[in-house]
Amino acid sequence: MHSRKKIESLARAVHGLCAWWDLPVKSVLEVGAGVGYWSDWYRRTHKKVRVVSVDVSEHACKKYGHQLRDISRWSPRTKFDLVICQSVLQYLGDQDARRAIANLARSTKNLLYFEVPTKQDLRLTVDRTVTDLEIYSRDGAWYQSELKKKFRQIGAGLWVAKTSSIVLYELEAARSNRKT
Ligand SMILES: C[S@@+](CC[C@H](N)C(=O)[O-])C[C@H]1O[C@@H](n2cnc3c(N)ncnc32)[C@H](O)[C@@H]1O
Repeated sequence: MHSRKKIESLARAVHGLCAWWDLPVKSVLEVGAGVGYWSDWYRRTHKKVRVVSVDVSEHACKKYGHQLRDISRWSPRTKFDLVICQSVLQYLGDQDARRAIANLARSTKNLLYFEVPTKQDLRLTVDRTVTDLEIYSRDGAWYQSELKKKFRQIGAGLWVAKTSSIVLYELEAARSNRKT
């Protein structure tokens, strides 16, 4: 788990990139919020932003003030400008993870911040002594192929909804497979 300080620097960076791309951030959804560092930061520093945080754990909802939602079964009625789903989908089996990604797409107007440990991360990147290993491990390619149905990959965990009006220079985003 990342510290509050680390998440706040990430939130500032993502919010700053939204400003650079002229993407308004009027609404934010944090999915599988846990301790809720992202939503706390938005609630504290951007009081006009509509912030919703959800989690499937009754305990987390009660303790940190989230709505009780299972992202593999739920999507909001209206889309959010920015959606955050950090370190959540590794707890879902393939079918539920697929459904969750479809619901993330239904939830996202512009930008999704998405992080999950992949098989490669578990082998090479994470500190296994402090990482929850009771999880589903999948290849990065599995997540990319699901996400790319509805999003374009930018990089650094950021995915832009294909329906977004964002305009990016060619080299601002990861290479798409589309022929131009
Ligand atoms: C490792 S914690 C990450 C918490 C937070 N996102 C963070 O990065 O600190 C995983 C969280 O995802 C939640 N979660 C797992 N499955 C979920 C689901 N299907 N829908 C919503 N939340 C879920 C868990 O209850 C837990 O709070």
